[in-house]
Amino acid sequence: MPVYHILSLSLDEKTMAQRIKGIERETPITITVNGQPMQAYAGESIAAALMAAGFRAFRRTEASGSPRGFFCGMGVCFDCLVTVDGAPNKRSCMTEVVEGCVVETAKG
Ligand code: FES
Repeated sequence: MPVYHILSLSLDEKTMAQRIKGIERETPITITVNGQPMQAYAGESIAAALMAAGFRAFRRTEASGSPRGFFCGMGVCFDCLVTVDGAPNKRSCMTEVVEGCVVETAKG
């Protein structure tokens, strides 16, 4: 069985993180991301909501400014850090969206 590195996949980026049609979602909620209202669904992670909205870089490293975003999806790599309700360095893949929460990217 071949092993694929995520960066070598040739899928169109728009199809990689769309919400799956036909899946029943929890209640739609509104969160604020970088000062803009954004729809999310109760029960999903902030990372899932950001990815579905088209975000790929959630922050930049202090040393080189390299973009970082969703990588492991299970709380190990800390690449997905964002600020949530003023609290910096929250792992967006491990943090559930809450109605009215305020998320800031590029500050984690
Ligand atoms: S994506 Fe690795 S900790 Fe969130």
